Amino acid sequence: MTALEQQACAGSLDDVSLTELAERHGTPCYVYSAREVRAACARVIEAISPLPGAEASYAVKANGNLALLRIIAAAGLGFDVGSRGELARVLQAAPELAARTCMTGPCKSVPDIDAAVDAQIAAIVCESPAELERVRQAAQTADRKVRIGVRINPDVDAGTHRHITTGLAQGKFGVGLQTAMQMMQQADDDSNLSAGLLHCHIGSQIASAQPLIAAAEVIIELRNRLTGEAADCAIDLGGGFGIGDAGGRPQQDVLAELAGWLAAHAAGISFSFQPGRSIVARAGLLLTRVEYVKDNHILVDAAMNDLLRPALYDARHPIAVVGGQLAGPTGETAVAGPVCETADFLARNISLSARPGDLIAVCDAGAYGFVMASNYNGRLRPCELLIDNGTASVVRRRETIADAIALEQPDNQ
Ligand code: LLP
Repeated sequence: MTALEQQACAGSLDDVSLTELAERHGTPCYVYSAREVRAACARVIEAISPLPGAEASYAVKANGNLALLRIIAAAGLGFDVGSRGELARVLQAAPELAARTCMTGPCKSVPDIDAAVDAQIAAIVCESPAELERVRQAAQTADRKVRIGVRINPDVDAGTHRHITTGLAQGKFGVGLQTAMQMMQQADDDSNLSAGLLHCHIGSQIASAQPLIAAAEVIIELRNRLTGEAADCAIDLGGGFGIGDAGGRPQQDVLAELAGWLAAHAAGISFSFQPGRSIVARAGLLLTRVEYVKDNHILVDAAMNDLLRPALYDARHPIAVVGGQLAGPTGETAVAGPVCETADFLARNISLSARPGDLIAVCDAGAYGFVMASNYNGRLRPCELLIDNGTASVVRRRETIADAIALEQPDNQ
């Protein structure tokens, strides 16, 4: 059992009673442990320590809550953002870290690029020649020298769910080796650009270092063929370090193994990494209350709009009755929510017994949980609570119906 599962079964998180939190703040709600986030940051820093000067940048898309970003910044990580919305969060939570923030993403808009140039972030990672041209224009207009990266598509199978595989040639991510070389040399020749970084990110929930090493080999070989200043560029190998499903292999082994391989085979190159899930997943749980028990369905007040991962990826999150048992991995029972969709489940084919009124903790929900929540079925997004030093605070309040309809203008037609 992971620390989070053990604590949920014991009924508290970092000595704060989950029952009391549910009574005070209502359900569903996300509960995060600051202690666990700090511990995960320290594990990542330790894992990359064999690589002199290596950097870890937290992928904000995993969980962009400002309170968590502050903790992660204080723990020594930089940031990876996918949009100007995420960049704005970093600038609010830790403005001093703009210079340690990269922007990565397959289709950056002009406003995204302008915001990144304006904030003078560490690098804008370009995923096509046309995107490089947009960055060049933005740099010229701003009269700045902008450090760019190029995302390589190494055509390596990460061996993970097809929805979170991003390193295959047929996908939309990055460019092939020939194009990458041309983009790097072009940036090198441009007075408004510097060709500082080669990047790849081959997928998420990766359970073995092997595909990451295969991608590193491709990218290192490409770097060897560059000339001029580009030949000294740093390499960013993205994130994707899996935490495993229910009790799987811990993430830091994958990253530590990768870092060990790089230290042995690629001394002298500056490396960076972009862990998202492995920093926050095991620091968070979704707390939900059982409403009804019908045949083999435990119907709870959280739904796919609160935690989409089981519906979208068939993800298996460990489930515990608060102050009770951890669900068994096989069985006939489903934990399902109020949304009118067959895909609305939080767990399927498990063994669990619960009664109306019981609290259930859906574990490992700190990453890609709240950030993927929606208002589908007229539901209101849950609140987020952070436990730090034995005290819980509301770090995002629960949405109200007024919040949910505030942007609509029915009389404005
Ligand atoms: N860097 C880049 C460029 C990325 O696109 C991502 C995630 C990361 C880093 C962080 O990857 P991580 O360490 O968190 O695996 N919603 C899916 C995961 C999508 C990941 C998207 N990119 C899920 O819930 O499993």
